[in-house]
Amino acid sequence: MTDAIKDVVFVLLHRLEILAEKAPREPVDLRSEFFARIPAAIIGRLMGACGESFRHAVAGMFEAQSEQRLKSSTDELRCLLVGLVEEKRKYPGDDITTALIHAYDSDTGTCLTLEELQSTLLMIIAAGYETTIGLLTQATVNVCQHPEQRRLVLSGQRAWTDVLEETLRRDAPLPVRIMRVATRDIHDVPTGVTIRQGEPLCIHYAAMGLDRSAHGDNASDFDIQRSTRSQHLSFGFGPHVCPGASLARREASIALTALFSRFPSLALATVDLPGPGTFLSNAPAQLPVFLGAPVGD
Ligand code: HEM
Repeated sequence: MTDAIKDVVFVLLHRLEILAEKAPREPVDLRSEFFARIPAAIIGRLMGACGESFRHAVAGMFEAQSEQRLKSSTDELRCLLVGLVEEKRKYPGDDITTALIHAYDSDTGTCLTLEELQSTLLMIIAAGYETTIGLLTQATVNVCQHPEQRRLVLSGQRAWTDVLEETLRRDAPLPVRIMRVATRDIHDVPTGVTIRQGEPLCIHYAAMGLDRSAHGDNASDFDIQRSTRSQHLSFGFGPHVCPGASLARREASIALTALFSRFPSLALATVDLPGPGTFLSNAPAQLPVFLGAPVGD
């Protein structure tokens, strides 16, 4: 996917340049104008669903401010996904939708129903969209708020991957995983708590990265040179570990390298950033920045 990500980022950076030229003194919401468009385009390509209507439907679902809006956006996306499945049945492609249509369970002798296909595609969108935007947004906030570390990265003394791992550790993009059910009794020795088989629980990824016994007394500081920066569980663990982890890392690394090369003086437009718009995110809901003059082509 590297070439596809580079293509998407190239086009979007050009769009940012036009915005910067049109109104050089106006702040730009980097989240909606750049970051949100990257996972939408990449997930669309993975599924074989290119086009503005797909991006629009995905963004609508995540940005919905009311239950009614959420329902209409989700219905719109579900409709698009049914159309996509129909199209891929007729014209198979090299994409996840085609692969899922042809996935056959030899134990049951069945393929996925239309509803299962639709829900699986929706789950991939839900899992890969907001999380990747959160990583991109928070990594940008972190480098802008830590000028010394920013200098290390922009001078090539440290890599963007260090910024990403430290952001994943300290600011887990998916802070909490909704409801799991214990399949057996679990006794946690340090706290003395026992979770009984069948009891529901939520896993708080955002708290894990701040564990002082794992990362030291300064666990809540952002430090790209921290030796434990990659020792986080922000992509989960075990049989359900995130299958999109390397894609997310690659998207973020390509996008941030290109963004800061093109706009090296990029700066936050406010010290008062908004909180996350949802409990499923850990990054500001908007990211107003001054892009500054673009460099190169
Ligand atoms: C920074 C970005 C991302 C973060 C932080 C993240 C985090 C996570 C976490 C914590 C889980 C739960 C793991 C568990 O239950 O133990 C998960 C599951 C999942 N993620 Fe990601 N994810 C990211 C990006 C992506 C992307 C880009 C995709 C695909 C396009 C994706 C697809 C999935 C899917 C399909 C699952 C469910 C796996 C299963 O239940 O077996 N994720 N992710």
